[in-house]
Amino acid sequence: MNIILFGAPGAGKGTQSSILIERKKMSQISTGDLFRAAIKNKTELGLQAQSYMDKGELVPDSIVIGMVEEVLKKNTGSIILDGFPRTVNQAEALDGLLKKLQVKIGKAIFLEVPYQALLSRLTGRRVCKSCGTVYHIESKPSAKADICDSCGGDVVQRNDDKEDVIANRLKTYEEFTMPLKNYYKKTGLYVEVDGNRDTENVYMSISALIS
Ligand code: AP5
Repeated sequence: MNIILFGAPGAGKGTQSSILIERKKMSQISTGDLFRAAIKNKTELGLQAQSYMDKGELVPDSIVIGMVEEVLKKNTGSIILDGFPRTVNQAEALDGLLKKLQVKIGKAIFLEVPYQALLSRLTGRRVCKSCGTVYHIESKPSAKADICDSCGGDVVQRNDDKEDVIANRLKTYEEFTMPLKNYYKKTGLYVEVDGNRDTENVYMSISALIS
C-alpha cells in the first residue's frame, strides 16, 4: 500500500519512515531529505531551496511539484510520501500526478503530537551529517557524543532546528499544512495516529493500518 505520512515538524514522520523501510521494505520520498541532499551537493535546486528552509518557510510549489514528479516516475514498490504534500495546492497536484502515473494512495496518516512535545523533539534532535541517521539528545543519544553510531560521521543540529526557525516552521505548518486534514477527510483516506507515544507503539499502529 502507498501512504502519505503527514504531521507537524518533529511529529516523527522521518523516524517512522525509517522503520517502515527496514521492516516493510517500503520506499520513502521525503521532500525535506531531497532538498537537504541538493543543498549538500550544491546543485541549483539546493541553492533555490536553502533560502526558504533556513527561514522555516515552504519552498515554492513550482519547485517542489516538479521534483516529486521526477522521483515518483522512477519509483516502484510501496511508497511513503513524507513531507509531501504540505499544502492543499500540492495535494491537488499530487492527485493529478497519481492519476497520470496510475498510482493509488491507500491512506493519508496524520501523526498527532502536542505542541510542547514537538518543541522538545525539534530542539533536541541531532542528525548525522554523512548518513542522515536521526538522534535526540535525551530520548535517543548517540553512544559517543557527536559521533554517529552507524557510520562514525559528525552528529550535528539541523540549521532549521534553531529555536527562532522552529517557531516559524510551526507557524507555517498551522497555516498551510493543517488544512490538509480536511482535504484528506473528504477523500476518505484520512486516519489519525497518536504520535505522542514511544516509537515502537506508534509504529505498531501504523503497521496495523497498512497491513
Ligand atoms: P522536512 O525535513 O520535511 O521537515 P519537517 O516536516 O519539518 O519534519 P521534520 O524532519 O522536522 O520532522 P519529522 O516529523 O520527520 O520528525 P523526526 O522523525 O525527525 O522539511 C524541512 C524543510 O524543507 C521545510 O521546512 C521546508 O522549508 C522544506 N520542504 C520540505 N518539504 C516541502 C514541501 N512539500 N513543500 C515546501 N517546502 C518543503 O523526529 C524528530 C525528533 O523527535 C528526532 O530527534 C526523533 O528521534 C524524535 N522522535 C521521533 N519519534 C519520537 C517518539 N515517538 N517519541 C520520542 N521522540 C521521538
